[in-house]
Amino acid sequence: MGIKQQSKGRVPLVPGANPAGEATMRAVVQHRYGPPEVLELSEVEKPHPGRGDVLVRVSAASVHPGDYFIMTGEPYMVRLVFGLRRPRHGIPGRDLAGTVAAVGKDVTALRPGDEVFGWSAAGTLAEYACVPAENLVSVPSNVPSLSAAAVPTSGLTALQALRKIANVQPGQTVLITGASGGVGSYAVQIAKAFGAEVTGVCSTRNVDLVGALGADHVIDYTRTDFTRTEKRYDVILDNVEAQPLAAVRRALTPTGTLIPNSGHGGRWLGPLGRIIKARVLSGFTRQQLKPFTSIGKRQDLLTLAELLTTGQLTPVIDRNYPLDEAADALRYVGAGHTRGKVVITI
Ligand SMILES: NC(=O)c1ccc[n+]([C@@H]2O[C@H](COP(=O)([O-])OP(=O)(O)OC[C@H]3O[C@@H](n4cnc5c(N)ncnc54)[C@H](OP(=O)(O)O)[C@@H]3O)[C@@H](O)[C@H]2O)c1
Repeated sequence: MGIKQQSKGRVPLVPGANPAGEATMRAVVQHRYGPPEVLELSEVEKPHPGRGDVLVRVSAASVHPGDYFIMTGEPYMVRLVFGLRRPRHGIPGRDLAGTVAAVGKDVTALRPGDEVFGWSAAGTLAEYACVPAENLVSVPSNVPSLSAAAVPTSGLTALQALRKIANVQPGQTVLITGASGGVGSYAVQIAKAFGAEVTGVCSTRNVDLVGALGADHVIDYTRTDFTRTEKRYDVILDNVEAQPLAAVRRALTPTGTLIPNSGHGGRWLGPLGRIIKARVLSGFTRQQLKPFTSIGKRQDLLTLAELLTTGQLTPVIDRNYPLDEAADALRYVGAGHTRGKVVITI
């Protein structure tokens, strides 16, 4: 099922509003929090780049669980950040790839025609997006735009978790749960690129995929509970949190690092309960319990671009939806069984 088509949008239309041509564009909009049915395909005003901005003609945008939480407004604590009564930015989506259509006065590093990828807080499920220039880097020549669009948020999360938070070193043992998902599929490849011995945890249908991503060992969680084996890991990146914190800690070395990285939890606070528990516990153990929030950081996106260029990182694209089926894409992401990434082509 696609999304509601609006003849002309509720967002005001301003003719002749920007330097790159037409005044309006097609965009997915939402005027209230709720299930995927709240999404509408509308004709809206095309954004106008400010001095430091780039107007990108979007070719592809990827969606991830965070986009689902922002669409539904649950856990409710997301509303403190994204708007109390309705989403502050009417257009969903954060990650994108596309072609530079116009640049603001202060932008010198990019020119119209350049192929770029990156992130924008102002929404990317649209034909055009206005993006601060520092949120964009060039798409490596060996990478299709569709794949580049799948990288930013999930890739940055995996990279920052393994490099900045866990400081993974060659030879260390790293276990990644949700190894078949958006973050996990990048984390397996990045941990391998860092020289770690990687164990991926996934369901039976994804065992071959996680092995193909480079995992040295694959644990099928339908058959084996990794918290009940003798094996201990230097680093655990827990993208699923299917087991209690105490059980996951049993699989960690006495001074190992655990990153609880799930956005799930109760309807009000989401992961906050587990985050607080992990922070309190870390004061009483030599194990490092380090929940974190990934950030958009250009230098890290350049690292990911480098890994894409060298072939050490290859996005896994699970499904590809057209813009008018964005609701289906988010419904699928919300179900939590994604294999790699879900992309919307525009
Ligand atoms: N800290 C941050 O700033 C940050 C940033 C981004 C994302 N996140 C969070 O990171 C988590 C993962 O995100 P994602 O984009 O990777 O999610 P995703 O794409 O939905 O992937 C989840 C994966 O986990 C697998 N899975 C389900 N149950 C499992 C289990 N018991 N053991 C192992 N794997 C299991 C699923 O496949 P099967 O169902 O087939 O097994 C699926 O492939 C989310 O909770 C998200 O909110 C945090």
